[in-house]
Amino acid sequence: MKRIEFLKTLGLGLSAGGILSSCMGDGDVVPVSEIADFGNALKIPETIYNATSLASKSLKDTIINGKSSSYLGYGPGILGPTIRIKSGNSLNLNFKNQLSEHTNIHWHGLVIPAEMDGHPDQMVMANNSFDYKFAVNQAAGTNWYHPHIHEITGRQVTQGLAGLFIVESNEEKALNLPTESFEIPLIIQDKRFNDDGTIKYKPNMDEKMNGYMGETILVNGTFSPFLKVSSNLYRFRVLNGSSARIYNLALSNAASFYIIGSDGGILEKPEVVSSVLLSSGERLDILIDFSKVPLNSEIFLESNQFSGMGTAQGTQKFKILKFIVNKQGESNFKVPLSLIPIQKLSGSTQNRNFSLKMKMLSLNGGMHRINNKVYKSGRIDETVSLGATETWEFDNSTGDEPHPMHIHGVHFQVVARSGGRNEIQPHEKGWKDTVLVAPKEKVQVIIKFTQKGKFVFHCHNLEHEDDGMMLNFEVK
Ligand code: C2O
Ligand code: CU
Ligand code: CU
Repeated sequence: MKRIEFLKTLGLGLSAGGILSSCMGDGDVVPVSEIADFGNALKIPETIYNATSLASKSLKDTIINGKSSSYLGYGPGILGPTIRIKSGNSLNLNFKNQLSEHTNIHWHGLVIPAEMDGHPDQMVMANNSFDYKFAVNQAAGTNWYHPHIHEITGRQVTQGLAGLFIVESNEEKALNLPTESFEIPLIIQDKRFNDDGTIKYKPNMDEKMNGYMGETILVNGTFSPFLKVSSNLYRFRVLNGSSARIYNLALSNAASFYIIGSDGGILEKPEVVSSVLLSSGERLDILIDFSKVPLNSEIFLESNQFSGMGTAQGTQKFKILKFIVNKQGESNFKVPLSLIPIQKLSGSTQNRNFSLKMKMLSLNGGMHRINNKVYKSGRIDETVSLGATETWEFDNSTGDEPHPMHIHGVHFQVVARSGGRNEIQPHEKGWKDTVLVAPKEKVQVIIKFTQKGKFVFHCHNLEHEDDGMMLNFEVK
């Protein structure tokens, strides 16, 4: 039975998420991928080297139920192309906003001048354009781009505006990692759908508190996807592009896999894990070895249950993507023993502490705060000296919701975590720009500020961010 019919039989209609959530408690939307047939070939976004133009637009795509519906995107369909560039080169990109409202582009993970970063002040109005020009001088890694307008970031991203931005380097190339058809991007997002197949984004009060979660998981904009693989080693670049959902990624055969990189680039050595928690905005570079898997097996990438991440998520286990191993291996890629050395940052000259406390009964938004403050565009909250190295601590020790904290214009290293999970996670052993600060945790990161100007840092739960859980800092 097709998913839609199944839901109809249950009397739920397509907006099952909303209905289930109201009888199951705050935002506790049950992903229904369990009942999906995983019969749709995974879409792979087009790759463009050194892209020179991009437009945000409303367009038609077919995602669910065979219905052609309207979405937002930067390409022919939902989402956007994967932009690739070699470190040392410059991007010179004319961006056209063909939406009927303002938007902009933030280059999440790129360490570039403030004027090009897509600060919420830097809006591109409807039918206007802007030239994003910047040199890319950073390690090879998996970054992404998305709109960043205060109060509507969550809606614009959820409606389809996001894409990957991959930086390459010679150092990375020398590792001989799986490439071409053995290197696959996976943008994981959860959605709710209206009956006409369009994406619904209407967080209520509870969902602004906990995050807006969808009952349907898409990968690269594909509903219920499968990917045919050969019995080889594959590289997957995974982005959690969801507004709030955290995934506990694992394989259905319980096999371990190798984390070779995270937000800011490649790790020093592969970390062998059998599951990893990925929060909104974070990326993972992983290797999965299908070489010992018998031909014609089906293995699922899934999200396992987890705990300690608030009341709204973690209680369910669901499938994300079906791998069908249908061909004998033909490549000889191997897992490298070591990867790229990482210089440890040291010499921090200043500590700053940020308490992530909520304030209830704040009816006009602003329930989520940093140091009891709500975002204000014109206010500079922290001033940092150019070239300084500092330690920032995010303190969620009295909180009961997870906050993936993201800082613009920098890469950082996680130096300590106390409370909660109490340790640095395998994928946090390299350069990061977003770190999950779970309930009860205090997380310290060390940061070197190399770009001048006004940037933001914020929670990457997009409902929290839009609620004002974001501050400005100026580097000068
Ligand atoms: Cu991906 Cu300021 O965000
Ligand atoms: Cu960012
Ligand atoms: Cu948050």
